[in-house]
Amino acid sequence: MSEREIGLVGLGTMGAALALNIAEKGFGIAVWNRTHSVTEAFVAGAGDLAGRITGADSQEALVAALKRPRAIILMVPAGEAVDAQIAALRPLLDDDDLIIDAGNANFHDTNHRAEEAGDLPFLGIGVSGGEEGARHGPSIMGGGTRAVWDRVAPVLTAIAADYEGEPCAAWLGEAGAGHFVKAVHNGIEYADMQMIAEVYGLMRDGLGMEAGAIADVFAGWNEGPLASFLIEISAKVAGSTDAATGGPLLDVIADAAGQKGTGRWTAIEAQHLAAPVPVIEAAVVARNLSSRREERRAAEALFGAGPQAIDAEELPVNRMEEALIAGKILCYAQGFGMIGAASDQFGWDLPLPTIAKIWRAGCIIRSDMLDDMAAALGDDPGRNLMMAPYFADWLKRTHGALRKVVALAAERGVAVPALGAGLAYFDAMRTARGTANMIQGQRDFFGLHGFERLDDGKSGQHGPWAQG
Ligand code: 6PG
Repeated sequence: MSEREIGLVGLGTMGAALALNIAEKGFGIAVWNRTHSVTEAFVAGAGDLAGRITGADSQEALVAALKRPRAIILMVPAGEAVDAQIAALRPLLDDDDLIIDAGNANFHDTNHRAEEAGDLPFLGIGVSGGEEGARHGPSIMGGGTRAVWDRVAPVLTAIAADYEGEPCAAWLGEAGAGHFVKAVHNGIEYADMQMIAEVYGLMRDGLGMEAGAIADVFAGWNEGPLASFLIEISAKVAGSTDAATGGPLLDVIADAAGQKGTGRWTAIEAQHLAAPVPVIEAAVVARNLSSRREERRAAEALFGAGPQAIDAEELPVNRMEEALIAGKILCYAQGFGMIGAASDQFGWDLPLPTIAKIWRAGCIIRSDMLDDMAAALGDDPGRNLMMAPYFADWLKRTHGALRKVVALAAERGVAVPALGAGLAYFDAMRTARGTANMIQGQRDFFGLHGFERLDDGKSGQHGPWAQG
């Protein structure tokens, strides 16, 4: 009976989809869920794949159904549930059996779990692509010991998405490296979504366009440089009709964004790393702010509604497309820069070109542009992506549109925090002589913190105020 290739705990949406994907790729799998009726229903609904699936009614039965050395994937909510499963399974396992946390864990937790596991095999893998991805091919970001990853790589690469023959699954580094990269992926996901929402706002509130017309614009953009899963689904979301009202569904969806927290983790970690990711931070702030609906309503009543009309001639849709291209390049430059900073800080040696490659398919941020990013990072992983010739050319052609869009939005009261943050980053980055000399002067004035002189390069210098 101990014949199944791999085990899986947790038959929620993602776990069930991943289990079917594994079975479909020809691997025998044993599954266990806390509520056994869920397991029974899952196996009963697995159709032709049921022959490759063992539905275990206990953790002991799950372990007994697996080939040695065993490997068990946890697909349970991040946090305590993961620790509880590890604590329950470890006593049932041998020392060379492997536990894989495939949920959206905080990478600090994964670091701790890897440390606690010691020599016991443990992997933390980031899995992206939602239910559809888990079922038919997610992007998999692996973290843990390389040799341990290699043991299950045949299964993980077989179930991953495929980009022109290359699997979107890779080992990225030790301990929490995979979950760290997944968090940055999600931060970028938040930023991409926010920038799309901002141009949607310009079209709806500035240009006065109906949802259907906005859907057509997004669908058109999906044929060009912005081609991506998120633009594609934005067109579909904007183009959907509400069954109850017969009007656009988008118009009846409450304007308060939820979040499970991975984008926020990215923003917090970026601060620890001193890695500038202002577009991601703006996107997290925008979600937080979106939830304050009552407060926003009160402010609108007090100050009057923000958005004012914009003429179609003032803001042709292709200018917004260009602005989004520029914003996206700047956002990814920041995201990859943050991964580079973490790589240095944590000694991970994270392979930036590989990360771009495994994001080309399967994951939520998949896009055509990621293929060019993989190429640019392959040429020079240490260079800011905005300075890679291909993307520098794009930015030269599009930053004017970003400026126009942000300026017009500011003038007409349409909030575009993420696009604005992208523009401010761009302008700050291309200003060789910035304004922090004033800050250094202030710091020295009130705290004698010292400054570096530009003329002779001497540091620890003080102004005349130091004498008094
Ligand atoms: C993915 C997604 C996924 C995430 C959801 C919800 O890559 O498949 O990032 O892991 O959990 O998108 O995230 P929020 O609830 O934070 O928006």
